[in-house]
Amino acid sequence: MSNIKVLIDKKKLEERIEELANQIKHDYEGKQIVLIGLLKGSVMFLAKLAENIECDVELDFMDVSSYEGTESTGNVKINKDIRDSIEGKDVIIVEDIIDTGNTLSYVLEYLKQKSPNSVKIATMLSKPSRRKVDLEADYTCFEIEDKFVVGYGLDYNEKYRNLPYIGYIE
Ligand code: IMP
Ligand code: MG
Repeated sequence: MSNIKVLIDKKKLEERIEELANQIKHDYEGKQIVLIGLLKGSVMFLAKLAENIECDVELDFMDVSSYEGTESTGNVKINKDIRDSIEGKDVIIVEDIIDTGNTLSYVLEYLKQKSPNSVKIATMLSKPSRRKVDLEADYTCFEIEDKFVVGYGLDYNEKYRNLPYIGYIE
């Protein structure tokens, strides 16, 4: 893994995730939150976020993918749906990175049809310069420039998800 350069180290990333968790805790005081993680990339971020939100938190997961290619096409397929009803609940979708925004705008509209009380988005990373649809997260740890990043859940051909930091391939 010597060709991976560190973009955001573990300490900086986890401090920022704790800040986000505190903000969420404050915004949702007294409410029960459902965190819906998008597999697989969000798992590390979701775990760190959840352990720092000191409220009642339920966890659920979805697995979605775009049909073909390395770039998100806007054609999103649901491989695994959430397990429990979110009717009347306060939902936060948890994502690893927002690139074009296609995946999340689809998931957002899909989950809104299930009559939750509210739906917001928390993302670990965002590449605003790559956006193709008008979509912003409610909670973002870091905005980054247009680099392909790996680690802390993010992969390149299923590798590097277990790196404890955000890196980029030289
Ligand atoms: P979007 O639909 O274009 O916003 O694509 C978002 C998805 O593409 C993310 O959930 C990631 O799975 C993947 N992705 C986008 N950029 C990167 C990257 O730099 N590294 C790893 N995966 C990425
Ligand atoms: Mg993803």
